[in-house]
Amino acid sequence: MFEQVADHTKVKVVKRDEIFQQNYFGSTELLPFWVADMDFETTPNVKNALRDRVDNGLFGYEKSIDGLKKSAINWFDRRHNWVMDKQNLRTSPSIMASIGILINLLTKEGDGVLVQTPSFPKFLHVVPNNGRKLIQSPLKLIDGRYEIDFEDFEEKAKEAKVFILCNPHNPVGRVWTSDELNRLGKIAKENDMYIISDEIHSDIIFKGNTFIPYGSLSDELTQMSISLLSPAKTFNLPSNSSSFLYSTNKDVLEKFDKFMLNMYLDKTTALESIAMETAYNTGEEWLDKLLVHVEDTVDYIDEYFKENIPQIKVTKTEGMYLVWLDFRELNLDAQEFNQLLVDEGIALNPGNWFGKAGIGFLRMNIATSRDMINQGLEIIKRVVDKRINKPARCC
Ligand SMILES: Cc1ncc(COP(=O)(O)O)c(C=O)c1O
Repeated sequence: MFEQVADHTKVKVVKRDEIFQQNYFGSTELLPFWVADMDFETTPNVKNALRDRVDNGLFGYEKSIDGLKKSAINWFDRRHNWVMDKQNLRTSPSIMASIGILINLLTKEGDGVLVQTPSFPKFLHVVPNNGRKLIQSPLKLIDGRYEIDFEDFEEKAKEAKVFILCNPHNPVGRVWTSDELNRLGKIAKENDMYIISDEIHSDIIFKGNTFIPYGSLSDELTQMSISLLSPAKTFNLPSNSSSFLYSTNKDVLEKFDKFMLNMYLDKTTALESIAMETAYNTGEEWLDKLLVHVEDTVDYIDEYFKENIPQIKVTKTEGMYLVWLDFRELNLDAQEFNQLLVDEGIALNPGNWFGKAGIGFLRMNIATSRDMINQGLEIIKRVVDKRINKPARCC
């Protein structure tokens, strides 16, 4: 099922689009391992439900999102042992839209917003773009696995009004443990700092790890939190889904509702509602197969690097279909290495897109077929061989 890359000849997905490739990499026709979506079709049930709805053909005003909310509540209960109260659940156009709106509603110009780096690039942009001060707390890489520098975090929290938590953390693939989340929550509480918990990657979790929704922690710690949820990554629906916002904080919900109403944003479209509801109600078996494929791919890539390019290390990946590659042992200038990869025809996310803490790293999207993965790995090896493992000069 996941050995086939979906037909992309009629759909201009960003990662293959020549205009986007040109803008981001200065080149085109690059084998794409960058934008975080999958090369796979969504589930057959979602396709069928969308087809049925299109065949029906009536697209008058629709306002009922009851079924959609129930599908999300049941999903988080079944998969993550978290029972949300329907009264506190909202829909929102996208995760990033929610973050932009919340930053504006909960802070003033110049207020500090804390993120952990390396960070999903849009977090680094949304804060200054909205006139707020970006505060960065770098994660620590210890024996190939990222950890929170709590001392640094505690210090930075003193100047921040909001912390954008990413769980699992894009790009480093950590699935935060209950202890870590409780400790972050305690620091947030002591500093009256809101936590916006972006949980878009929450369903791609590997064996031996458990995703803990921030909203499932104690009432005391969740009082100043907002959880952002979405089936977009899980079922490869980023161009056909909106997202959910959950909070038990009445004041936050009131502000959010008022904003959405006044901006006439309290709307989801028929096709996206059907896609999301069907995915949550019927996608479990499909997802379990996807998880096996993605986890196998992580192991495969890890083995490949160990055997063929040991200077590149796959950092410990506990979830997500993105791997974070540490190439610092190649002793190459990061910019030069990125350019060599592009010149050889491959697009990976350069680490500096994720902040200064990402220099010397690359993010590779692995939600694709084994054939694509092999092509990608061969290109990386070719670049390393050409630049590093040059044959010794003869005579
Ligand atoms: C952590 C994280 N948050 C948000 C998004 C984007 O979500 P949306 O398209 O709903 O704004 C992504 C997409 O890659 C992501 O990785």
